[in-house]
Amino acid sequence: MEQTVKLAMPERSQEQAARKAAEEKAGMEKKFDIKKLNLFYGAFQALIDVDMEIYANRVTALIGPSGCGKSTFLRTLNRMNDLIEGIRIEGSIQFDGQEIYDRSYDLITLRKKVGMVFQKPNPFPKSIYENIVYGPRIHGEKDKTKLDAIVERTLKEVALWDEVKDRLDRSATGLSGGQQQRLCIARCLAVEPEVVLMDEPTSALDPVATSKIEGLLEQLSEKYTIVIVTHNMQQAGRVSDYTSFFLSGKVIETDLTEKIFSNPSNKKTEDYITGRFG
Ligand SMILES: Nc1ncnc2c1ncn2[C@@H]1O[C@H](COP(=O)(O)OP(=O)(O)OP(=O)(O)O)[C@@H](O)[C@H]1O
Ligand SMILES: [Mg+2]
Repeated sequence: MEQTVKLAMPERSQEQAARKAAEEKAGMEKKFDIKKLNLFYGAFQALIDVDMEIYANRVTALIGPSGCGKSTFLRTLNRMNDLIEGIRIEGSIQFDGQEIYDRSYDLITLRKKVGMVFQKPNPFPKSIYENIVYGPRIHGEKDKTKLDAIVERTLKEVALWDEVKDRLDRSATGLSGGQQQRLCIARCLAVEPEVVLMDEPTSALDPVATSKIEGLLEQLSEKYTIVIVTHNMQQAGRVSDYTSFFLSGKVIETDLTEKIFSNPSNKKTEDYITGRFG
């Protein structure tokens, strides 16, 4: 399938984009700083010398063909891979300047600060309300007024409040797929994370539900740092500030999204985004 996703961009604005990128990078807060990350599943190396900076309050999209390591990489950011047997991780991942793979790093704090939303909506078989207060309760919040406020805040953040405010006590599994996914995002936001990792969060949704979630991302990035894996090039182009292209376990390039989609530095990136392979 030959698809063209190049954004029409005159030469001068490409230069401007490059300058803007340099300026932005210079002044921006790094949420994650990843250096020489190597990850092995037994004898198989799934990530090879990955270097990446993830900026605060920006949306970073991870793209690349199936099996190139996007999910593996995403899961290293909140140590979700830890329990996989035979896994070995080398290199450095700093979150707010601290090594998250250091023994002394507190995993509970990490998971609270770095939340995750999965491909398939996975609400608990509980009420809408209970889904959202689950995390805050685990972290010790008992005050009903505060929990109510969290429910309202997060459901508003994901633009679900108006649809469900009169049925908070009903089962979350009765919601549509798109509503369930917004609920899962709300559940993730309920513990006030700093970063939200999303692994193909819209791939199981119809175009209307997808566009609702895409619309949310820009607003959410005012408050949160977002890293999203997507196979949808148009989606990466629409929602992200930065895009990182993965291929066979390596990061080929990371740059401003408009640069990646108009004038990538590497030929392999261009081949992928124009649909020549992958
Ligand atoms: N738990 C595991 N044990 C062994 N190998 C694994 C495991 N998880 C992933 N892999 C392998 O690591 C490589 C990267 O997988 P990963 O799921 O990160 O790719 P991906 O880019 O997310 O692919 P997709 O786009 O299909 O989701 C693949 O070759 C995969 O088979
Ligand atoms: Mg994946």
